[in-house]
Amino acid sequence: MKQYNKSMSDTNENKTIPTDQLVSLLLALKEDAQHQIDESDASYEEIRQLFFGKESELTHLTQFMRFVPKEDKQRVGIVLNQVKQSLEALLSKKAKESGIVNEDWMDVTAPGIRPPVGHLHIVTQAIEEITEIFNKLGFTRVRHPEVDWDWYAFEALNMPKNHPARDEWETFLINHTPGVKEVHTPGVRNIVLTPHTSNGQVREMEKGILPIRMINIAKCYRRQIDVSHTPMFHQFEGLYIDKNVSIGHLKGVLDYFAKAFFGPDRKTRIRPFHFQFTEPSFEVDISCGICNGKGCRLCKEGWLELGGAGMVHPVVLANGRIDTTFYNGFAFGWGVERCFMMKSGTQLDDIRVLYGNDVRFLEQF
Ligand code: DAH
Repeated sequence: MKQYNKSMSDTNENKTIPTDQLVSLLLALKEDAQHQIDESDASYEEIRQLFFGKESELTHLTQFMRFVPKEDKQRVGIVLNQVKQSLEALLSKKAKESGIVNEDWMDVTAPGIRPPVGHLHIVTQAIEEITEIFNKLGFTRVRHPEVDWDWYAFEALNMPKNHPARDEWETFLINHTPGVKEVHTPGVRNIVLTPHTSNGQVREMEKGILPIRMINIAKCYRRQIDVSHTPMFHQFEGLYIDKNVSIGHLKGVLDYFAKAFFGPDRKTRIRPFHFQFTEPSFEVDISCGICNGKGCRLCKEGWLELGGAGMVHPVVLANGRIDTTFYNGFAFGWGVERCFMMKSGTQLDDIRVLYGNDVRFLEQF
């Protein structure tokens, strides 16, 4: 098989060649290509390399285009295109002969190729559903900072500095920027990554608009990582402040949510508990969906723990400048990931897969 590039490597060193010489080399290439195919028993791939490969004559000649004087560019360009087209035609003829492609035939009944379609992350799906359910009860979704003053995350919630109750929230502390003004409590300038969504309570009260029916859904951060904890997770915090709010109202809202989110057969119950920011405080349970409250291996006594709730503590109301002679309210705060797993019956042996970004896991939902 003739090696064109030999001749060109000499010429290449001079960098420029007269236009006419370039044109004749191109035309010679076109002429010779036919013989190349006729004379050789080279495979399709070899011919392709010879015509269009990195070391091919065509590639070398093309490189000379940029040295062609401006006034000759169009003429040479036309010749170059013609040569390319004829080489392409020869190559596709060779392809047909070798049975590599069959351009004349197309199977119109063959199934198409589906483009991959993504979907919202399962936690986002759960957040959207939770928001919708509370919207129906008149609760509006709000946003409050996820990096907040210690005041809103703890102090305003009746947990003074060094109070032992804080130990339950393994909090990330942020170094404040020197010069940042102290707020609320002289000497307390700590900034935290919010360990719960309850920081939204006093922030919402401070807006001064009553009654309040908020649902605050946000990321929370705690210094915990193991099979059942991720350092970032989500909570939703409900807050209802109005005149004459009772535990009955709280129970009504809990029941409504449980039936809407988990299914019409589910029931809730409240058990006495302790939180600094509610009085009385409760732990909320939901009847087990597997045994319908009879008791099974999943739930033990027929109930599954959902999260905390209670009647907002007067100290918290006062910190939010709510007039406690007229107003009171309830609050609750639960984990989104936990609710999602309880609803779907997904038993993750390592909750961290939720945020591992492995599509093989996520696409199942
Ligand atoms: N903030 C609490 C936690 O992270 C949950 C909680 C309990 C929120 C009782 C509330 C509440 O609003 O009333 O564990």
